[in-house]
Amino acid sequence: MAERILITGANGLLGQAVMHIFTRESDFELVQSSVEDKPFINFGSEYYKLDITNKEEVKDAVRRFNPKIILNCAAFTDVDKCETERELCWKLNVDAVKNLIIASRINDAKIIHYSTDYVFDGKNGPYDETATPNPISFYGRSKLASENALIASGADSAIIRTMVLFGLGVNVKPNFALWMINKLKAKEPINIVDDMSGNSTISDDLAYGSLKLIEKNAKGIYHIAGRDIESRYDFTMKLCDVFGFDKKLIARIKTKDLNQPAPRPLKSGLITLKAETELGFTPMDTVESLRFLKYQLGN
Ligand SMILES: NC(=O)c1ccc[n+]([C@@H]2O[C@H](COP(=O)([O-])OP(=O)(O)OC[C@H]3O[C@@H](n4cnc5c(N)ncnc54)[C@H](OP(=O)(O)O)[C@@H]3O)[C@@H](O)[C@H]2O)c1
Repeated sequence: MAERILITGANGLLGQAVMHIFTRESDFELVQSSVEDKPFINFGSEYYKLDITNKEEVKDAVRRFNPKIILNCAAFTDVDKCETERELCWKLNVDAVKNLIIASRINDAKIIHYSTDYVFDGKNGPYDETATPNPISFYGRSKLASENALIASGADSAIIRTMVLFGLGVNVKPNFALWMINKLKAKEPINIVDDMSGNSTISDDLAYGSLKLIEKNAKGIYHIAGRDIESRYDFTMKLCDVFGFDKKLIARIKTKDLNQPAPRPLKSGLITLKAETELGFTPMDTVESLRFLKYQLGN
């Protein structure tokens, strides 16, 4: 009988990419779960409505499906809202992970969890897995607390840190690349920061990297992100080249001009060498991932 993976938050951007890639590329039996009543895409897997902030629901799900792996794609990902809705942020990003840990003890399931470059302060990136975290936002603190909860629990687990996720999905929240494509297609001018750097990651590539991690039965922390470490402005220039947009529509600005509630790590970036050497993960570079997105968009 095929081994099962319970995927939480499967209606989100990463969750949909994971469902798509794992359905196509693996023999696992997938249980697609999220808070909504229905799946946003029907992948032919069983769908189970699961709110991971509810400890009993999570335990019931583990008893019912006996998954070998719980892959946690659910999170409170609105970085600015995390500053003002702190209780909700903590409940989903930290307490819910503790629910997964407790439930995993029922059948010794392995937990695979996602974290972020926001655990770093962005003073001297890019960072490898041994760098010391120092979050500067509430979101970053919550994600670091989730990492620490997993590590301290001793549960069989792996943590995948990623950054600036973009890609296509049904009903997903707007992401950096799609926002720019919509604006530039309509010939609307946009302001892009040139003092924030890191690697942008297409969700499909992250899903591939996650599958490699599972196949290698890897444990501990891995950085999985796009190949190129560059400023948001340079990313946007490449997007204009790939999609044929007018670069004159782009104005350079500084991050402080945006007056965002949550501070951002500026000189960030995740070094992916460990995932490349240990997992055989080959990250797409920016142009490759944008070409792939263009193909997915059908233009
Ligand atoms: N997006 C990025 O740029 C980025 C960067 C670095 C790391 N990450 C990490 O990558 C992971 C995936 O992010 P993503 O961009 O795919 O996020 P996403 O699109 O916001 O997906 C998260 C999903 O979790 C669902 N959810 C919310 N509350 C839930 C609950 N109580 N129980 C179960 N599911 C619940 C959400 O549903 P609703 O939409 O209905 O709330 C949503 O479908 C997260 O751990 C995130 O921290 C993301």
